[in-house]
Amino acid sequence: MKISIFGLGYVGCVSIGCLAKNGNQVIGVDVSETKVGQINKGQATIIEKDIDVIIKEQRDLGNISATTDVNQAVSNTEISIVAVGTPSSTKGHLNLKYIFKVAENIGLALQTKDSFHTIAIRSTIMPGTCDKFASIVEETSGKKRNVDFAIVDNPEFLREGTAVDDYYNPPLTLIGSDNKDAANKIARLYDMLPGEIIITDLRVAEIMKYINNTFHALKISFANEVGNICKELSINSHEVMNIFCKDKQLNISPYYFKPGFSYGGSCLPKDLKGLQTLAHDLYLEVPVIDSINKTNNIQIDRAIKLIYKHWNKKLGFLGLSFKAGTDDLRNSPAVAVIEALLGKGCDIGVYDENINVSLLIGTNKEFINAKIPHLSNLLIQDADKLVSDSEVIIVNTKEKEFSNLLKDASDKIIIDFVNLDEEIKKFPNYIGINW
Ligand SMILES: NC(=O)c1ccc[n+]([C@@H]2O[C@H](COP(=O)([O-])OP(=O)(O)OC[C@H]3O[C@@H](n4cnc5c(N)ncnc54)[C@H](O)[C@@H]3O)[C@@H](O)[C@H]2O)c1
Repeated sequence: MKISIFGLGYVGCVSIGCLAKNGNQVIGVDVSETKVGQINKGQATIIEKDIDVIIKEQRDLGNISATTDVNQAVSNTEISIVAVGTPSSTKGHLNLKYIFKVAENIGLALQTKDSFHTIAIRSTIMPGTCDKFASIVEETSGKKRNVDFAIVDNPEFLREGTAVDDYYNPPLTLIGSDNKDAANKIARLYDMLPGEIIITDLRVAEIMKYINNTFHALKISFANEVGNICKELSINSHEVMNIFCKDKQLNISPYYFKPGFSYGGSCLPKDLKGLQTLAHDLYLEVPVIDSINKTNNIQIDRAIKLIYKHWNKKLGFLGLSFKAGTDDLRNSPAVAVIEALLGKGCDIGVYDENINVSLLIGTNKEFINAKIPHLSNLLIQDADKLVSDSEVIIVNTKEKEFSNLLKDASDKIIIDFVNLDEEIKKFPNYIGINW
């Protein structure tokens, strides 16, 4: 395919070389005459393993060239890939001025182009940027989005130092779009690469890079805090993290990675606190580990606020324990929510088939007696009755029966902490806690 690439820095230089090597005709565009000159001389604009050889080879084969002339680049290509810089602004936001300048330039060039043009944003951008980019192109070109041109988001995942290798071995290829044909066209550019090609909503693709990079930063910081604690205790931190990574069921896995409600139970809060206290006893600062419980409490407050909007209605909780299939109420976040709402005078009913107050023993009994001493007055044995008697139903545990139970409750307000079935999500008064 014929492609123009805007920005000949790290991402642009690797893309121009690799896309040409994969059989495309590529024109690079940059405001820097030096970089344009380098590409035209067959030189890479960056220091990166293998890219110098690729650029020279592809220039010699006549597959790549570069220019500062946007009109020439756009009129001779069917796809424009945008890979200009998006540095941090002084306030910490992404500075998108280079991106929007390119939108203006491409828009002006499209004024005189008759054929359909596909634009793929490869730079890291904020959610909503593609829509703004498209409206700038519409304003400056006088053309219509999805009639004369389309825009997709196609974030780059390469890392400097291994950029060419990363280009050829991406974990996945992500394309966000509101235009199926444009998404498929961009997908064809990466047909030969390993890794799944995922086509998704524009905004999902736009936020992905931030989520990935923030998680990578979190991984590094978590491992460093673990390392610091281990060193103080003369424990081999690399052995610890190697073993940690071998657990592919709970540690390095999709498990626990679902947006939803707070954690609870007898183990997570207790053991987190234990590690925190150990670190403090060692005079270590562990802000990542310290902040986990704070985030958990924020989620409990969020739930309380969400439910309290309906303070004068009859509230029914489906599930009270900290997770499905157990009667363990210790540190169940739903108990904290109900305790707070009872304090505010709310009218509450609770159904949990695993809870029988007279059978609770030990620390479980002590915990609930301290938090909700009159729990037996709130418990309703019949789930159907709880649903029919309540105006607002809060689903706290993912018991299989709950989605079924709610099938006929489309007239109720449903507040979902557990990600219920799609059928329930279509109800007019359905509210997910963070989706
Ligand atoms: N560097 C990385 O490892 C990496 C990895 C993945 C994603 N990204 C993202 O990709 C984007 C580009 O990063 P980079 O490191 O390649 O940036 P860079 O600073 O190395 O290169 C950006 C290039 O864009 C050019 N440019 C600026 N305005 C232009 C315009 N109006 N027209 C044409 N060219 C213009 C600049 O002259 C420069 O050569 C950023 O959003 C970055 O966050 C970078």
